[in-house]
Amino acid sequence: MTEKNIIVALDDPLDYQGVLEVLDPKKCIIKVGSVIFNYHGRKILDEVANHGFEIFFDIKFHDIPNTVSKSIKSFKGYPIKLLTIHLSGGSSMIKSALVSSKNINAKCIGVSILTSINEEESKEVYNQEIPKTVTSMFNLANEADIDGVVCSPHELKLAGDLLQGKIKITPGIRLSDSNSDDQSRVMNPKEAIDLGATYLVIGRPITSHKDKASAFEKIYQSIYEK
Ligand code: C5P
Repeated sequence: MTEKNIIVALDDPLDYQGVLEVLDPKKCIIKVGSVIFNYHGRKILDEVANHGFEIFFDIKFHDIPNTVSKSIKSFKGYPIKLLTIHLSGGSSMIKSALVSSKNINAKCIGVSILTSINEEESKEVYNQEIPKTVTSMFNLANEADIDGVVCSPHELKLAGDLLQGKIKITPGIRLSDSNSDDQSRVMNPKEAIDLGATYLVIGRPITSHKDKASAFEKIYQSIYEK
């Protein structure tokens, strides 16, 4: 376990400042993903950095190796601790992304398959069922010696077996007493950490809560209390 295991996702481009104001950069990392980045551009990275936070840049790079490499290098100087690429870009792309990530002091994290993909789509796109697709993507990640992967909490066991010592980042985290929303296969924070998650990505249970600081604190305590 690292010291900061919670990544708070900023997904609302018009309502995020309150989150940056009340959370403690010593206790969490901030996720900047495609919604908020495409809306604000690099200004959002500056804003998050100015509040003292490290960044999980979840932009999921996917292009030819040279393009991915140059794009990643262009973010030198921002406090990006972790960034994502699509593993389906192939081993040359993964290796280029790894070199450029090192160059900007970031860890390179691979996305296996989008959890929105269903069995039928997995067969259409990858010619095999989801578990086989995930396994082959994890093997590809391991062979390329990537720094880590994003996976569903329900794939943590497989990721632990195939990707020993690598970072595992998982969304779909909810305290058991929280209201239901569109996350269907959820797990509680402590359970996910105990199953080997390095970082938990949590958005709305914190960012949409009327008392964001205490919502964060409750989740934080649920992980660290004995
Ligand atoms: O608000 P919530 O806690 O559901 O946010 C989770 C974050 O993780 C969001 O930024 C969402 O885009 C991301 N995510 C997810 N499920 C996936 C992959 C990413 O919820 N399968």
